[in-house]
Amino acid sequence: MSPLSQFKAVIFDLDGVITDTARYHYLAWKRLAEAQGVHFDEAFNEHLKGIDRMGSLELILASATRSYTDAEKLALATEKNEHYKELIATMTPADLLPGAVEALDAARAAGLKIGLASVSRNAFEVLDRLGITGKFDYVVDAGTIARGKPDPEIFLKAARELGVAPGDCFGVEDAVAGVASIKAAGMYAIGVGDPRVLAQADIVIPDLAAFPLN
Ligand code: G6P
Ligand code: MG
Repeated sequence: MSPLSQFKAVIFDLDGVITDTARYHYLAWKRLAEAQGVHFDEAFNEHLKGIDRMGSLELILASATRSYTDAEKLALATEKNEHYKELIATMTPADLLPGAVEALDAARAAGLKIGLASVSRNAFEVLDRLGITGKFDYVVDAGTIARGKPDPEIFLKAARELGVAPGDCFGVEDAVAGVASIKAAGMYAIGVGDPRVLAQADIVIPDLAAFPLN
């Protein structure tokens, strides 16, 4: 019996776990940053994973040579989102990462409740394009969250709505801020990616093809 079978719910992140939208966020931020004269690479992007839109923009503009008004920031965030929406417009179920559907189905077969905790305001659209909306018992609406990751609010809200105590949940995340959010919520954390980067996770797997319940 898998040690994960003691849990009652699993709460997944979306971008970079279930589908490779993390790549699209990277491309959209890189174009915006470079247009503002800010150097942008994979290492910097690692700090943005799991961080909400305005928070990510603030981190990028902190390296710019001038300051920006709130109206300019809003315009830049909107421009980034429009670019991102162009990138996700062509997504289909073929964009599910290896093992993603199997992980959702294995969690269901194990009797777990299944939640989604993404701070992306595009999460509902991405789930629809991937054809997996119906596989979740509850999807947090990012627009209702006051504090983004690494604050635990989003994972705690998912647990509450699923009717499961945080200690009976585990979370699945590809971002440093996301793993920190899971741990701050008092949950077991599965990191997806590089164990050196996701050092705070309880276990780290390379991708969902290695999901322990599959
Ligand atoms: C996820 C991604 C972040 C992204 C955030 C907000 O957490 O990991 O890279 O900035 O969602 O996404 P949004 O679609 O609302 O701009
Ligand atoms: Mg992510």
